[in-house]
Amino acid sequence: MSYETITAEANAQGHKGVTLLTINRPQALNALNSKVLEELIDAFAAYQADGSQLCAILTGSGDKAFAAGADIKEMSEKAAADFFLDDFFSPWTAEIVKKTRKPWIAAVNGFALGGGCELAMMADFIIASEKAKFGQPEIKLGVAPGMGGSQRLTRAIGKSKSMEMCLTGRMMAAEEAERSNLVARVVPHEELLAETLKTAATIAAMPPMAVIANKEMVNSAFEMTLDQGLIVERRIFQILTASEDKAEGMAAFIEKREGQWKGR
Ligand code: CAA
Repeated sequence: MSYETITAEANAQGHKGVTLLTINRPQALNALNSKVLEELIDAFAAYQADGSQLCAILTGSGDKAFAAGADIKEMSEKAAADFFLDDFFSPWTAEIVKKTRKPWIAAVNGFALGGGCELAMMADFIIASEKAKFGQPEIKLGVAPGMGGSQRLTRAIGKSKSMEMCLTGRMMAAEEAERSNLVARVVPHEELLAETLKTAATIAAMPPMAVIANKEMVNSAFEMTLDQGLIVERRIFQILTASEDKAEGMAAFIEKREGQWKGR
């Protein structure tokens, strides 16, 4: 499938089971317009449907930006009624986050601002280049986060830092983002893609049902009380014990060999 504003590569650079998605509008710092959204929805659906792929990476093209936000030029043309009646921004969560059961990693290579920061936070985790910069500068445009920033940033880094970032629009550098638990890991700029591909390949080599189950469990920690989450965890664990890959994984450990996964 060829796209106008993104690229999609299954088994990226020879990494089996890893799909690489790249936002490709470097001249606009990969700003997120309607075409990018439409194409990312299609590419994530294709990734989810392809049984040979088990981990995706989302990154930005060029050396400067992951995504500098929702496209301000596109939004400047719209009236409040358009945003409201179209429920603008809702497909990001409804069509991408909720429908992608398999994991995906944001590889943040530069500016991740506004919707760009919010898109990175939709990923299961973030690996950042040391040049990455995160921010929610919407306040400077007379608006506020609209793709989940006030909620996901606050859950990730806590009220005080999130409030400061939203109210001042200041950018947070990669080192502070790692210290604040916004990102899983910071790596040298030139090594970002290679490191992220390596991490994604590690995940893609795991037993598929266990990969999906682990993602579901961790995410339930954000949606449920502790008691409910613990029940979900135990039930999913118990279901996994019926899988062929559980028998294979435990046998492989005891026989001191690598497991051969069936995905069932
Ligand atoms: N939308 C549309 N175009 C954008 C853009 C955006 N969010 N961010 C950058 N661009 C465009 C610029 O207009 C410029 O295009 P032209 O050459 O045609 O003028 C090009 O990308 C390069 O940008 P700059 O010249 O500004 O680059 P810089 O290095 O001087 O500055 C920057 C970089 C600090 C990231 C700056 O571009 C910037 O502040 N961008 C806007 C960031 C922002 O406010 N993001 C939030 C958007 S609102 C939002 O996302 C709502 C939401 O919650 C979902």
